[in-house]
Amino acid sequence: MNVLAPVPSSLEAELRAHVGRHVAKTFDWDAFPSNRGFPDLERAQMRYIGAGGSPKVGDSSTLKPEHFTLSLIYKHVGKYAACHAHEIEESFLIIDGVLTVGWERDGEVVEVKLGPKDMILNARDIGHGFRNDGIEPVLMSISVDVGKPLPPRYLYHPKNTAPELARSFGAQPGRTIAFSPTGEHPLAQHMARYVIRHSEQPTLWDGAGFTRKVYVGPGGIESDTCRKEMLGVPVGVGVKPYAREVEDAFLVLEGSLTVGWEDEAGNGVEVELGPRDLVLNPAGRRHWFRNNSAGPVTVWQVIGTAEPETVRFEAA
Ligand SMILES: [Fe+2]
Repeated sequence: MNVLAPVPSSLEAELRAHVGRHVAKTFDWDAFPSNRGFPDLERAQMRYIGAGGSPKVGDSSTLKPEHFTLSLIYKHVGKYAACHAHEIEESFLIIDGVLTVGWERDGEVVEVKLGPKDMILNARDIGHGFRNDGIEPVLMSISVDVGKPLPPRYLYHPKNTAPELARSFGAQPGRTIAFSPTGEHPLAQHMARYVIRHSEQPTLWDGAGFTRKVYVGPGGIESDTCRKEMLGVPVGVGVKPYAREVEDAFLVLEGSLTVGWEDEAGNGVEVELGPRDLVLNPAGRRHWFRNNSAGPVTVWQVIGTAEPETVRFEAA
């Protein structure tokens, strides 16, 4: 029997086209050609917005980037990423596992261990690498704060660096320094301005009834590119439609979030997102969110500007 499926409205089709479903996407084990032939560098990338640091910019399964890219990176225990630098800032938000991130300068490296919901913003032109020294795989969300980043500049790649030196991100023997937020070393002090611990960042209650922890932006790390926040939305809480002059994206970390779009005539469509699902709300699009579920939801939000918040959220 043929059943006529209702034809989706153009708004509904547009919303669906801006959703990245975790289960509909695949991890790419060959996203970084410079890793080919080096099993210790193995990592998998799942692209949601843009290509991130991968040259696979022609991937039609990823959303078109404006001011930032967003992807997931998976790293097995024992694997590492060679020390490199970018022309722009790049954030690592840990989702699962514990990641060791190193910053290098003049043969010295400061290493920080980051756990779930911790983040580091790798500063422009700083040599950085990462390694999974833990006992479980690491899953993290990487955002590069420009739509189309240039290829990374490798500083200590095993193709032209001794394997042990590459694994230590370029630290000469005995010149690895464990990060401490109060450390005296200038590189540790520099890094301290770019590390956010979830447990140490204040929880702000918005008047509309949800929580925010500012990671990048006023109250968090200073930046002139994008803002990044973690939102907590209690059961039953939602906000009225709002629009921004730039795009923003929601990546659900835990729970379920309902996101709606509204057109000029006030017609609305909505979609429910689960863990590791993402929606990209384009500039100017009126959108809203609500927790219709029986449990809290945690959302990672990236906003395509560094300007302070202009939206006054209103409880729906
Ligand atoms: Fe990087």
